[in-house]
Amino acid sequence: MSLRSLFEWMDALPSSIALRESLYAFPVLLTIHVVSLVMFAGLVVMMDLRLVGLAYRSTRFSQIQARLFPWQMVGMVFTTLTGLLLFYMQPMRYFGKVYYWLKLALIMLAGLNAIVFHLTTYRSVDQWDTTGPPFKAKVAGVLSIAMWACIVAFGRFAAYDWLTFE
Ligand code: HEM
Repeated sequence: MSLRSLFEWMDALPSSIALRESLYAFPVLLTIHVVSLVMFAGLVVMMDLRLVGLAYRSTRFSQIQARLFPWQMVGMVFTTLTGLLLFYMQPMRYFGKVYYWLKLALIMLAGLNAIVFHLTTYRSVDQWDTTGPPFKAKVAGVLSIAMWACIVAFGRFAAYDWLTFE
């Protein structure tokens, strides 16, 4: 089964059609998507700014991370659920959109960046928590801020017909 036929099959499912034909589903889901992504990405950037050394320098990184993490996860769950539903209700609308695919690829890269940071540099946080994040932690923070900014921009661009193929 090709990706296109998978998308076409999804597009023809009764629940996808029902959501697509609803007057309220798209605006309500998109609004929840935006509110939760603001919470999620905003809190991630707050943490990254501490990592890079541009904000909250008098607070230890581990403390900021521990306080923000649960709320970042709440934002992430709502963003992901609403994002998947927005996609599910119009799969063929997004199939040929370059910005949509770029956004998804960047979400995966940003997730990978966070996982690698947690499994490597963050393990030795006890050693650098008081002195300040090491260079590789700052690199992870800069990459994260850049990727989340592009994810938000590409999410917006995906609403238009720029770079869209049949
Ligand atoms: C699995 C994860 C996600 C999926 C499947 C997804 C999917 C979507 C879809 C289908 C749209 C509607 C585009 C349109 O207007 O036609 C959208 C909008 C958007 N998404 Fe996501 N999204 C996800 C996660 C995220 C994340 C993590 C962010 C940023 C942190 C984000 C940022 C945006 C933005 C800024 C918009 C545009 C809102 C607007 O037009 O006002 N999305 N997303």
